[in-house]
Amino acid sequence: MPLNMSLAAVPPPSALVAADRATMLHPFSHPTVQASLEPRLLVSAKGIRVTDIEGTEYLDAGSGLWCVNVGYGRTEIAEAMYEQSKSLSYALCFGSYSNEPLIDLSKRLLELAPPAMSKVLYNNSGSEANDAQIKIVRYYNNLRGLPNKKKIIARLGSYHGASIGSGSLTGTPFVHRHFDLPMDGILHTDAPDFYRRADPRQSEAQFCQQLVEHLEQLISREGAQTISAFIAEPVMGSCGVIPPPAGYFDAVQDVLKRHDILFIADEVITGFGRLGYWFGGEHFKLRPDLITSAKGLTSGYFPMSACLIGDKVWDVLAADREASLFGHGFTTAGHPVAAAVALKNIEIIEREQLRATATGTGAYLLAQLKARLGDHPLVGDIRGVGLMCGVELDADKATHKPFENSLAVGSLFNSCCWEEGLIVRGGHGKVMAALAPPLTLTPAEADELVTRLGRGIERLSGKVAASASS
Ligand SMILES: Cc1ncc(COP(=O)(O)O)c(C=O)c1O
Repeated sequence: MPLNMSLAAVPPPSALVAADRATMLHPFSHPTVQASLEPRLLVSAKGIRVTDIEGTEYLDAGSGLWCVNVGYGRTEIAEAMYEQSKSLSYALCFGSYSNEPLIDLSKRLLELAPPAMSKVLYNNSGSEANDAQIKIVRYYNNLRGLPNKKKIIARLGSYHGASIGSGSLTGTPFVHRHFDLPMDGILHTDAPDFYRRADPRQSEAQFCQQLVEHLEQLISREGAQTISAFIAEPVMGSCGVIPPPAGYFDAVQDVLKRHDILFIADEVITGFGRLGYWFGGEHFKLRPDLITSAKGLTSGYFPMSACLIGDKVWDVLAADREASLFGHGFTTAGHPVAAAVALKNIEIIEREQLRATATGTGAYLLAQLKARLGDHPLVGDIRGVGLMCGVELDADKATHKPFENSLAVGSLFNSCCWEEGLIVRGGHGKVMAALAPPLTLTPAEADELVTRLGRGIERLSGKVAASASS
């Protein structure tokens, strides 16, 4: 095809922009302002970089939505998809239907999971998987003859999805507002956010004790006989990379055990190498009864999520004397192409030792962020575990005062980083860069990331100063 013909075949960006505005309601967008925003039109991606329609390259420090753990553009994953699509392009797994890639994946997941995990239930997204967890704990307590033990405790600021059930678990008002959420039976306790939520006079240990006391108080107010489960991300992701204070999960798990409350570990972000383990909860010695997995399970190449069901729950389901139907499932859940992708993805993480890379490069990245950006007048806190780091900005460094209009400043900061060729995720209600780049990140790329982020912070600093003086 002559060059001019191929160029003519590509619609100019302005036509694409118009078509985008004319046709789509984007998730997590503002319908009133969407039409005035320039869509970020991406056309290709390789490794840790994505390229937009103008040919500008960006270092994607967010791995898309925290998911592209093995990096973009892996030919061997594309080939695994192609081969699977040719041989068995679709198969259901309802009832007694099954297929080899899905069986192989289930065996593999249970080998990689903490010891007490017994069965895998597949879904398509993290939200669906957390909805399924709500149903599993209800089913479990109904079978145990405890029909009133149904409430679930999540944490303020957490993100567990956006469907009716998982969106209710999510502890963020903008996921609830206008949707009449949360639904009944979902409670929220404190976020373990030492930087923003602790009293300045509190030590980390005192803050941790307060969190545990508040959890105990919530349980006694509601009655342990009404509470079925507690759900938590090992490190809170979307609300701004918040590792728990030392000893938090040990104390929380003791409380849960004492009150016969199941622990659901939401490993949607923290799994598949992100914290240096197959399941990041290992870092905190978690002993969950149920685990939710998605994102890094397929590195975002194909939709898939999984609920891992521990022995304690499975034994009750399997002993049901009435042999009830587990009436849950979705047409494309447990898709054989997703299974082939997940198997290849796991093979890559293992072969390239990406769990060790995440720990090593993550420690290097964190050290460089602290050394090179820690003294900047806007930088309040720098924290991280594995290859998951957060750089949180303050309006006033001395007093740690946050920005008043954090939503607007947060989005301005995101644009400043974009203009410096860097994609970062934010943190709900915070002005920050949440960094979770692909696990293949090299030390040289980590240096580049820090340089670009530093320039983004400088750019924001100039804009904040200009608006203060105008
Ligand atoms: C911890 C956690 N759980 C659940 C979800 C929901 O996953 P999905 O967007 O695939 O529904 C997310 C998404 O960001 C998440 O971060």
